[in-house]
Amino acid sequence: MGSRFLKRLENEYLRPILRWLRPSRHVSYAGIEIKYRSELDGGGTEFGQDFLPFLTARDMPKQQRAFEWCCGPGFIGFSLLGNGFCETLCLADINPDAVASCERTISVNGLGSRASVFQSDNLKDIPASEKWNLVVSNPPHFVDQYEGDLRAHDPDWRIHQEFFATIGNFLAKDGVIILQENNKGSTIESFRAMIGNFGLEIVFLDGHSPTLTKDSEFYYIGIMRQGDVPPVWAITRVGRAVDPLQNKLLWQRYS
Ligand SMILES: C[S@@+](CC[C@H](N)C(=O)[O-])C[C@H]1O[C@@H](n2cnc3c(N)ncnc32)[C@H](O)[C@@H]1O
Repeated sequence: MGSRFLKRLENEYLRPILRWLRPSRHVSYAGIEIKYRSELDGGGTEFGQDFLPFLTARDMPKQQRAFEWCCGPGFIGFSLLGNGFCETLCLADINPDAVASCERTISVNGLGSRASVFQSDNLKDIPASEKWNLVVSNPPHFVDQYEGDLRAHDPDWRIHQEFFATIGNFLAKDGVIILQENNKGSTIESFRAMIGNFGLEIVFLDGHSPTLTKDSEFYYIGIMRQGDVPPVWAITRVGRAVDPLQNKLLWQRYS
């Protein structure tokens, strides 16, 4: 038997069966219970939760409607909703299993009037009526690694490119997009031209290294439509600093 056949057998049958046999996991964010399968977690239970201290340091007021692009099980979005960072939440992902997971979370937690989810390749199947004040995401981070992994691979940065080309139609006036990117897979130069070419502009860049890092290090890009007026929280200066009490890096506002 050839090694290609064995590899196919492993990827198409063995791995899915082993995944299916693994028990589901569970997290809770401010009372919102999320049961999920580990293969849908793209880091949202871990570094994705850094959005909360980051937005707290910026003193962001409660937003009317937030959207989590590439939501997976919605760890970031549901955590923002549960912790009072937004009034209502919209979620979307291309993976039907991720969407089913979000639907279950909405139903189990009685969030039908405050949260909705769409299965959509990028923003193609999002109703034109959707308007978002805040967009957050931990999208696929690598252009040249993890081929075939929906969570990690963005071939030729096509997913980012399409997002920048279409997101402007869904932003409420003065709406802000915040992307959490990985410096191991990109620098701001990977995206700068795309952002500018589609009528958008960078309003902040935090935690970023100008060169690729050896290990995963996460940075944030704040983006708005050109001509919109950045809210105060979006131009507030913040940085990571060591908190001696907890001996870890925390986001702090510079006065
Ligand atoms: C890094 S994972 C993040 C998942 C989750 N937000 C988290 O933080 O754990 C990236 C997500 O992007 C989704 N994705 C990949 N390509 C996409 C596309 N073309 N349109 C929408 N979602 C996509 C994947 O299904 C995956 O859920």
